[in-house]
Amino acid sequence: MNKRILVAYASASGSTREVAEAIAHEIESDDFTTLVQHVNQIENVAQYHGVVLGSSVRLGRWLPEATACLERIKNQLNDKAVAYFTTCLTMADDTAENREIVLNYMEPLLNLTPDVTPIGLGLFAGSLDPDRRAILVGNGPQGDYRNWAAIRTWAREVREQLRQQESTAPLDLAETVLSFTDLSHSELSQVDLQGAELQAANLLAANMEASQLQWADFSHSQLKGANLFQANLIGSVLTGANLEEANLAEATLNGALLQYASLINANLARADLNWVDFSQADLRQANLQQARLGWAKLSDARLDGADLAGARYNDHTIWPEGFAPEEAGCINEGRGPV
Ligand SMILES: Cc1cc2nc3c(=O)[nH]c(=O)nc-3n(C[C@H](O)[C@H](O)[C@H](O)COP(=O)(O)O)c2cc1C
Repeated sequence: MNKRILVAYASASGSTREVAEAIAHEIESDDFTTLVQHVNQIENVAQYHGVVLGSSVRLGRWLPEATACLERIKNQLNDKAVAYFTTCLTMADDTAENREIVLNYMEPLLNLTPDVTPIGLGLFAGSLDPDRRAILVGNGPQGDYRNWAAIRTWAREVREQLRQQESTAPLDLAETVLSFTDLSHSELSQVDLQGAELQAANLLAANMEASQLQWADFSHSQLKGANLFQANLIGSVLTGANLEEANLAEATLNGALLQYASLINANLARADLNWVDFSQADLRQANLQQARLGWAKLSDARLDGADLAGARYNDHTIWPEGFAPEEAGCINEGRGPV
């Protein structure tokens, strides 16, 4: 299973960004996909398994944008693997005293996240462009002191810690606002997303097998190729969503809204589609074998090439004009439940 790791950085003149990139490069592996982002771009880290956050130091403190980022995301870190790193010139001389000084620089961050036990604290020598040196008082070091071997060694240790992190409980994202969030290819199986707001979210090829998605709002979201096998989608809103090639086999969609949704080539075999509103939906080439379609509304839905063999419906099911369900292999259950 490939998990996503965010490597976030703050950097006044770019040298810490290069450190972040080196860290991400070491963590990137069969197990982990990394994304390097400037702290100002970060609002939501729900989709990440782990977060590595680092900053350079100015006048004894992390850059303010890094601390502000941590303030924004601190409440999302409790169930994640977290590591912090600092670059500064105090570490140009790697002594016990200097480590103590730099750990003191980091203390405010650790106080901001008291419930988080970091899996790594990286203390690295940084780089100071001699031109920028002019703004510093005193005769401190200048030049590039970055020790790439030490940075890579630390990143590999973090990677091992990440591997050892067992997720303790199914992820609980109920009622979370994730609209417009890029969750493409995310591992979200068995996650609790009940009532979550996912309007226009990118869930391309996301794995949500057996997840709790009741009442979630996926309107206009991208779910192409998503795995929703046996997912619970009761009462969910999928209006205008792209579900092409999605796997919804054995999913429960009772009462879900799928008007204008695109379900071309989707697999809905054995799905519970009772009370689903498919008005204007595109179900061409969809697999609806043995699906349950009692009280379902399919007005103006496109069903060309759809496989409805063994699908059951009742007298309350509304079919597109001119569509003959029996000819398509559907079984009429009369007035009763399906
Ligand atoms: C104005 C200024 C203040 C700094 N203050 C400190 C400091 O208090 N302690 C320290 O160890 N390094 C300090 N440094 C060094 C930087 O933390 C170091 O050069 C770092 O690698 C810069 O990374 P960046 O280019 O990504 O911002 C300071 C640098 C500048 C330019």
